[in-house]
Amino acid sequence: MKPIGIFDSGLGGLCALKELRALMPGTDLIYFGDTGRTPYGTRSAETIMKYANQDARFLMSQNVCAVLIACGTVSTVALNALKLTLPVPVYGVVSAASVEAAKTTKNGKIGVTGTGATIGSGVFEHELKLINGDFEVHSVACPLLVPIVEYGFAGDEIAYLAVKKYLEPLTDKGVDTVILGCTHFPILKKMMEKAAPGVTFIDSGAAAARKIASEFCDGDGEGTVHCYVSDTPSNFNKTAGVFLGKDFDFDVKRIDIEAY
Ligand code: DGL
Repeated sequence: MKPIGIFDSGLGGLCALKELRALMPGTDLIYFGDTGRTPYGTRSAETIMKYANQDARFLMSQNVCAVLIACGTVSTVALNALKLTLPVPVYGVVSAASVEAAKTTKNGKIGVTGTGATIGSGVFEHELKLINGDFEVHSVACPLLVPIVEYGFAGDEIAYLAVKKYLEPLTDKGVDTVILGCTHFPILKKMMEKAAPGVTFIDSGAAAARKIASEFCDGDGEGTVHCYVSDTPSNFNKTAGVFLGKDFDFDVKRIDIEAY
């Protein structure tokens, strides 16, 4: 089988890569993290579209058989366009996470967290309402959480205070389930569980990885993992441990994404 391609604006998608690797150890995986242009979540839809097209073209040049958009921001802004233009199946994180949240909630009150672009798009809310029009959906943009994770502060007091502040409007509304609509946020899941006891958090990247694994057959033998970034790999190596744990050992190369 050809490799499966995964991309994100930076490193958050590595959580999805980790999940897919665990579920499909015999499949070759190619990851692109746009570390030179991250974050996407504060940019306009036009810019996110342009970046998403380039990221997808790079993965297509690697002969992938499917693309996982392991980024909440790109999934909410560019999924439909990429589905129309790419000659392979394309998966985003919205639908898989919404289905898991719908199955999880007991009281029908669901929270959504994400970047400004993701929450501004209203796509998660739309998807959840399609599943069940009676769901009460409350959303909050959490722009500070991406840099907190990228700069390695996920275990610190600053992370707890930020998470608590962002979750308060959701817990005040009585949500019992919260979608982590940004693929960086699973790194903060323990903090969130501490700040909002009793709430179940849905990892959108992992949910999308499970969806892919349910639709593709795994290969025989040991699959390979190749990572590409648009900034220096040394920075990638420093931060990737936060997402993948200490024992990751993937080949990482820099590419010129503007050439795609
Ligand atoms: N991983 C991105 C997402 O899921 C967040 C980082 C960004 O703003 O680019 O939305």
